[in-house]
Amino acid sequence: MPVFNKLNIMNKEIITIIGSGYVGTTFGALLAAAGIKTYLVDLDEKKIETLKSGKSYFFEPYLDEFIKKGMDSGLLYPTMSYEEAFKDSTIAFSCVGTPDLPDGNVNLAYIYAAAEEATRNAKNDIIYVQKSTVPVGTGRSVLEKMKEIRSDIDITYISNPEFLREGSAMFDTMYPDRVVVGGDDKSSVERIIKIYEHVLEFSKTFNSLEDKYGSAFSTTSITETKYFETTIPSAELIKVSANAFLALKISFANSIATLSDKSGANVAEVMDGIGADKRIGRSFLYPGLGYGGGCFPKDVAGLQKSFENAGLTNPILDAAVEVNSNMPAYVLNKVKQELGELSDKNILLLGLAFKSGTSDCRKSPAIKLANLLVENGANISAFDPQVDREELKHEKLSESVNILAEVDEIPSVDIVIIATEWPEFKSLNWKNFKDNVSSGVIIDARNILNKKEIEKLGYKYLGVGI
Ligand code: UDX
Repeated sequence: MPVFNKLNIMNKEIITIIGSGYVGTTFGALLAAAGIKTYLVDLDEKKIETLKSGKSYFFEPYLDEFIKKGMDSGLLYPTMSYEEAFKDSTIAFSCVGTPDLPDGNVNLAYIYAAAEEATRNAKNDIIYVQKSTVPVGTGRSVLEKMKEIRSDIDITYISNPEFLREGSAMFDTMYPDRVVVGGDDKSSVERIIKIYEHVLEFSKTFNSLEDKYGSAFSTTSITETKYFETTIPSAELIKVSANAFLALKISFANSIATLSDKSGANVAEVMDGIGADKRIGRSFLYPGLGYGGGCFPKDVAGLQKSFENAGLTNPILDAAVEVNSNMPAYVLNKVKQELGELSDKNILLLGLAFKSGTSDCRKSPAIKLANLLVENGANISAFDPQVDREELKHEKLSESVNILAEVDEIPSVDIVIIATEWPEFKSLNWKNFKDNVSSGVIIDARNILNKKEIEKLGYKYLGVGI
């Protein structure tokens, strides 16, 4: 690890992170590695014990290295005690989960519980920073609640949403493309910005991150960080609108893909063509099975609820959700067109995670597709490089799906479907595989293979819009 000289300004800030999920652990480990005393509070003993041993309880490239660095430097304090953390903290970052409720509203129970515990234990003049994604308007009501709980201390509330992606959480936290800080008190906003500037200076002392984890960590993709000082509601709305807009882009690409299938156009060429327009951009225009994960589905539903609660509608978002939820069925139909009735057909599904680079299966469209195939009578074997049964405990994947430990083990099947965009699937030895696939068809529901090359091997190739 490169040597980093602490900036004096940081000696006066002591930070508590509440919640050791993707956001909290990554940010906390980086702060401590950058020389700032940081408490990481979580009520889950197992998570805290794992962190104390110098590693994370979930996989994220580079995270373990930073946790170890934080622990070795004596500046990272994982703890279950709010009292211990808050006795000398000047700033707290709330990074707790915001699961969705069945009606689409966001469950804010952890947001309020964390704020309450923090308030009871905080010193005077604490700056309470909300990093969790919350519906617009939440900040104002959390602050009111905090003031009700304690009127003897001054509390400043800041909204500072997080934009990291799973699989590149460390990189995104080190080199954010933007930092949004919403608050009413200018000097507190400036103190938060100073922390980010400090962390960025530290991050810039790394120049070989790409060596180990490939293109997701390419330092050539670092852009200059932009800082936005806004009101609290604006900051809240920036976060959910950004995710909703990206969801719109994906659904738009998926819609065009369905027309490409009918018209003989190649959707990848179409997206290259439109994405070259700087006003549009190429990113998030990759069609396939649709979006999943812990953020997009929940944030879009939460934003729709905010519209509804405000007596408004947002039909564009409704359409994006509908397009997205239809994609697994769209791919199912492709399978049916190739195999006819699916009862007793043997299918190999490659991928279960909601995207590559993660073991996360929350709202994974791959799982939705697997269940649709099972409902239609097919026998499914599935393989994912990072996902095992334990990971699927909370997901509703049909018990009848046979999870393979290795892809070499595949028995003879009737068709192969790629459901997650793992690079590993590109480099499979498709040539050797050919005789195992009775129909000779590969359905590439993530458009990751090269159609021409696969066809040269004698397969029939079907992508989404290709
Ligand atoms: C997202 C946002 O990108 C991030 O800024 C926010 O903080 C959290 O939510 P994440 O859920 O980790 O991050 O994954 P992301 O890489 O954005 O992908 C989301 C889903 O969209 C995945 O299922 C992915 O497969 C799908 N996707 C993405 C597409 O289908 N097509 C695309 O072009 C891009």
